[in-house]
Amino acid sequence: MLRATLALPVLFLGLVASAARLPVAPPSQEVLEASVARKDATVLILGGGVAGVIAARTLHEQGIDDFIIVEARDELGGRLMSHAFGTPDRQFTVELGANWVQGTQTGNGAENPMWALAKKHNVTTRLSDFGSISTYDDSGAFDFRDIFDASIENFQRLVASAGGRVPKRLVDMSARGGYSLTGSYPQSRYQMASEHYQFDWEFGTSPEETSWLASSWAHNYTFDPASGGFSYENRLSVDQRGFKMLIQAEAREILRPSQLRLNSTVNVIENAKHEVKVTLTDGRVLRADYALCTFSLGVLQHNDVKFVPPLPAWKQEAIHSMSMGTYTKIFLQFPQKFWFDTQMALYADYERGRYPVWQSLDHPSYLPGSGILVVTVTGEFSKRIESLPDSYVQSEVMDILETMFPEVDVPEPIDFYFQRWHSDPLFRGSYSNWPAAFLSEHQGNLRANVDERLWFAGEATSRKYFGYLHGAYTEGEAIGLTLAECIQGGGCLGLEHIDRVQNARPYDIV
Ligand SMILES: Cc1cc2nc3c(=O)[nH]c(=O)nc-3n(C[C@H](O)[C@H](O)[C@H](O)COP(=O)(O)OP(=O)(O)OC[C@H]3O[C@@H](n4cnc5c(N)ncnc54)[C@H](O)[C@@H]3O)c2cc1C
Ligand SMILES: *[C@@H]1O[C@H](CO)[C@@H](O)[C@H](O)[C@H]1NC(C)=O
Ligand SMILES: *[C@@H]1O[C@H](CO)[C@@H](O)[C@H](O)[C@H]1NC(C)=O
Ligand SMILES: *[C@@H]1O[C@H](CO)[C@@H](O)[C@H](O)[C@H]1NC(C)=O
Repeated sequence: MLRATLALPVLFLGLVASAARLPVAPPSQEVLEASVARKDATVLILGGGVAGVIAARTLHEQGIDDFIIVEARDELGGRLMSHAFGTPDRQFTVELGANWVQGTQTGNGAENPMWALAKKHNVTTRLSDFGSISTYDDSGAFDFRDIFDASIENFQRLVASAGGRVPKRLVDMSARGGYSLTGSYPQSRYQMASEHYQFDWEFGTSPEETSWLASSWAHNYTFDPASGGFSYENRLSVDQRGFKMLIQAEAREILRPSQLRLNSTVNVIENAKHEVKVTLTDGRVLRADYALCTFSLGVLQHNDVKFVPPLPAWKQEAIHSMSMGTYTKIFLQFPQKFWFDTQMALYADYERGRYPVWQSLDHPSYLPGSGILVVTVTGEFSKRIESLPDSYVQSEVMDILETMFPEVDVPEPIDFYFQRWHSDPLFRGSYSNWPAAFLSEHQGNLRANVDERLWFAGEATSRKYFGYLHGAYTEGEAIGLTLAECIQGGGCLGLEHIDRVQNARPYDIV
């Protein structure tokens, strides 16, 4: 009897819920029968990305199989999204979304669960060497690797000083403030491009827009073994089945066909007294005891899905306290490789963030002979190019290539593609990031359930690993476990939230 275990005690609304999973009063027999008859499942898992699939697997492992995954796209994987790129005779699977297992394992230390999955499913990955780099400016090849090396040290100082020093800093600031306080002030275009490579290329947002503390945590918990992180290794999937195959294979091991609704876009989530009612854009209705919403933070921020009643003020505030970065990979295929032999290249434009980071997939480590070159832009520059037609972006990229390679007669690309993550109503950005001076209460509120029936999980709810695949994974697992306990305990209050987030002292003009 896992279904209909809940009576929603309205008296808990608006109170600070305790983290304890208190049993609630059992529902009356009529309510029980009425709701059992109509419900499609105990749990609706909304969204079939990493968080949704891992939450499903966790429920299954806990003996709860009465759930349905509801996904708008025609396959599982979410931001693990592959694409067949290239001319028909030279086509390769490339990754539009996540591509690296970031941090693997050091000795017997913590292992990145995505690395464990990659090994389980024999995903072909290659070690990336971000120091294998050539440097360019508007005169062509120009060696500024001394400045590049200095930017690595600047980033290390930034991370080491975020909250770690004595006296311990008690408040957060922007990473830009952090850079300045630790003595780096990028002035030249070489310094700006090098800083972009260390920072924006990882976080999808600029140091101005990013929390000093949270970016340092994210870095440490993923990469720094001394802080409990996995390792400094980044392994790029070149698996021609697509990186997403690992999450699709996990899903196949546990799902019956009736537990998956693809091509099913959620329009309204109604959190009612005795049920959660989910209405799809095609009018279909699904009812359950609980819903676990794994849509991206960007989707929640853009009101692409309507909540009835509207989410409480504390939840809305939490949703808008965090931001979405954008990371755009622009793929080009050429008849042959004419570029650098290193894995990476950095181009220093006069404008910070203008087509700076180049990655050669036509490299012995990746997809040799593919003729594929990738240039990545982030943040505001991503939004800018998303609003331009492809042909315009392509001609800008070609102008840069002609600048970088003045001695080469740069051929026209034979294929060109980039994904518009920011404008996509299923994503609205690439991954989340904390802006400066974030409050831990907002972080807790983003993660907390609303009343008893509506739960949230995804990369953005992860304290340690927000932004990453392993953040989505660990949250799918953690929230899945909490929900399973709740269901098996006959209902619960769930996770703690704070009704009114305040400064230590209120803002005031004295
Ligand atoms: C360009 C890019 C590069 C990245 N690179 C890396 C990397 O190299 N390494 C790394 O660790 N991480 C990387 N990430 C981050 C990683 O992809 C994400 O953290 C992770 O995939 C998020 O998983 P999720 O389950 O939280 O969300 P999602 O994958 O977004 O899953 C949510 C699902 O909900 C669905 N959905 C949305 N709206 C609706 C609706 N209305 N109705 C029904 N379904 C809906 C979506 O289609 C999606 O499948 C990258 C992301 C991007 C975009
Ligand atoms: C989903 O839609 C796609 C494309 O419209 C179609 O090919 C596929 O069969 C559909 N899948 C399901 C499960 O409905
Ligand atoms: C992965 O490869 C190993 C060794 O080649 C093999 O034993 C195993 O069955 C493979 N697993 C999968 C899921 O393909
Ligand atoms: C990150 O790790 C470094 C090295 O272990 C440490 O000095 C620093 O204090 C850590 N920073 C944060 C914010 O945890």
